[in-house]
Amino acid sequence: APLYAERVEASLLAAGLEVAPRVTFAAGEEHKTLATLGSILDALAACELTRDDAVVALGGGVTGDMAGLAAALYLRGIRVIQVPASLLAMVDSSVGGKTAVDLPAGKNLVGAFWQPSLVVADVATLSTVPADLFRDSCGEVIKHAVLADASLLDELCERPLSLEGAGERLADVVARNVTIKRDVVSADERERGLRQTLNLGHTIGHAIEAASDFSLGHGSCVAAGLCMIARASAARGWCSPETAASIERCVAAHGLPTGSDLPAETLMDYVAHDKKRHGDGVNVVVPIEVGRCEVRRVDLDELRNLVELGR
Ligand code: GLY
Repeated sequence: APLYAERVEASLLAAGLEVAPRVTFAAGEEHKTLATLGSILDALAACELTRDDAVVALGGGVTGDMAGLAAALYLRGIRVIQVPASLLAMVDSSVGGKTAVDLPAGKNLVGAFWQPSLVVADVATLSTVPADLFRDSCGEVIKHAVLADASLLDELCERPLSLEGAGERLADVVARNVTIKRDVVSADERERGLRQTLNLGHTIGHAIEAASDFSLGHGSCVAAGLCMIARASAARGWCSPETAASIERCVAAHGLPTGSDLPAETLMDYVAHDKKRHGDGVNVVVPIEVGRCEVRRVDLDELRNLVELGR
C-alpha cells in the first residue's frame, strides 16, 4: 500500500470508476487470520459495496489470499481483481483462484476457490521487492519449469533470474509461468488430478518449512523439496540421474538450498500432519524428465524411503 496504492487508486479514478476507502493490514503471514478477514469484511460492509463492485487485491500472496477470500464470502461472492506485487504472487498465488486464511491448526485451512476476474501483474513493481524474497520466489519458478518447460529450465540454469536490468526478461518469465499454471488450473480447478502436480517439491518442502518453524522461506523449502524428490526419483529409476542433476544445478545457481540436514524422522512427523495426506497414503509428485512429472500414491513407509534417498 505505501508504495503503489495511491497510483492504483488514481488510475481507477482516471478510468471513471468510484474508489471506496482503502483497507490495509499489517504485512506478514502471521496476520493471515480469521480476525483480519473479519475486519476486511466489516470494511466492505461499511462501504456498502454491492455485487456490482469489485475488490482490488494489491500486494503479495497474503493480500491476494485474504482479499480473494473476503470477495468470495461478501454477499456470497463479488468480483476480485488480483494485482500481485511480488514475484511469488505473480507466478503462483494470484493465478488459479485459491484463497484462504490460516488457523492455529495449520496454514490455509479455511478458504475457497474463487477465480479472479482479472490479474494485472506489472513487473516494474518487482524493483521494490527485497532481494532475499525475490530469490526465494525463484523456487516456484524453477518448479514450474521442471513441470512443463524444459527450455525455461535450461535458460534459468545458464542465466539465473535476477532483478538487475531484467524488465523484459522478467515479463517473459512471468508470462511463461502464468501460462503453465493457467493450463493446469483450466484442466483441473479443484485439484482432483492434474493440479496436484503443482505440488511438486511441496510434500517434503512443507515438512522442511514447518520443521524450521517457518524461518526458511517457502520457495527455498520448495526448492530443497524439489531436489530431494528428484534425487529419490533418480534412485528409484523413475527419472535419470541427469534429470535430477540439472534440477539441482538450477536450484544451486539461484542460491537456493538443494536439500535439508533435518533427520528423516523429523520430516516424516510433519508429513504425517500434512492436510494433503489421503488416509494412510500421500500423493507425491515425481519428475520423470524435465517438463514431465507424475503423481504417485505412496504409503508412509515408502515416503520415508524417498526422504532417506533424497537426503
Ligand atoms: N500453488 C498451487 C496451486 O495453486 O494449486
